[in-house]
Amino acid sequence: MILAKFNEHLEQNYPRVQNFHPFFNDALKWMLEAGGKHFRAQLLLGIVNAKNPTLLDKALNAALALEFIHTYSLIHDDLPAMDNAFLRRGKETLHKKYDETTAILVGDALNTEAFLLLSKLDLKDEIKVKLVQTLAFNTGLNGMIIGQAIDCYFEDKNLTLDEVEFLHIHKTARLIAASLKMGAIICELEAKECEEIYEVGILIGLIFQIKDDIIDATLDANEAGKPTHNDTHKNSFIKLLGLEGAKKAKNDKITLCEEKIKKMDPKIANELCKLIDKYLKG
Ligand code: IPE
Ligand code: IPE
Ligand code: MG
Ligand code: MG
Ligand code: MG
Repeated sequence: MILAKFNEHLEQNYPRVQNFHPFFNDALKWMLEAGGKHFRAQLLLGIVNAKNPTLLDKALNAALALEFIHTYSLIHDDLPAMDNAFLRRGKETLHKKYDETTAILVGDALNTEAFLLLSKLDLKDEIKVKLVQTLAFNTGLNGMIIGQAIDCYFEDKNLTLDEVEFLHIHKTARLIAASLKMGAIICELEAKECEEIYEVGILIGLIFQIKDDIIDATLDANEAGKPTHNDTHKNSFIKLLGLEGAKKAKNDKITLCEEKIKKMDPKIANELCKLIDKYLKG
């Protein structure tokens, strides 16, 4: 239900700009049209649905901001200077379809549009400032950026387990945790509850990245919609723990996560369990 509502909202709100560039507006929506799981958007909307469903319509643009910023990160992640990938969400990557200049600039545009969307939400200024701070902290220098920098710099250089966790917490888990926290902020939950939700989000984010590393090691490009068997140079969980070790680490973390979730508000627990079952198990 939430996913269908979000998909409809996304289709009606592709970014576009009045201009005379021959294809920039098509490039802006190329990767957004390709779909993806919308995991982060569903996390935010899941919290809002649990705590105050009357706010769902107002929250849709916050979820859209998450999808924009996540898609920007993938467009840049696929560039030759980073992971050099030709396929994403089952389609040609943006720099293959168009060119690197376009891919860099579309990424930049989706990044900044995300914050513009948050600033225009129909919510109190105080809430909007908290949303902007949360997203900027977790996708910026203190989150995805330093994670991606370490991920790329340490290719073919071994990291310890603690360093690998640092890398994946920053690269992936902080945005996922921020998505949940932003739902909590929209519902004006107490700071303590927002932090509790954020901490569970970090665990969910780590499990998500372990699953992503398992996908790289076990699926073909058709099944994954992106190139696979590409992480051999990376400090992936597979490289560190082996395939069976990574599967065990994922299952152990899921068990721990479910224990923590059981102690949370039952409505939040219900939303989180649905997403964990659908996207993290198996
Ligand atoms: C892929 O993210 C990149 C990671 C952080 C692991 P997703 O697996 O959420 O990609 P889409 O949005 O479904 O394509
Ligand atoms: C990318 O991680 C995480 C981002 C911050 C974009 P990966 O490089 O593992 O993502 P995929 O496997 O290309 O989707
Ligand atoms: Mg990468
Ligand atoms: Mg990649
Ligand atoms: Mg990956």
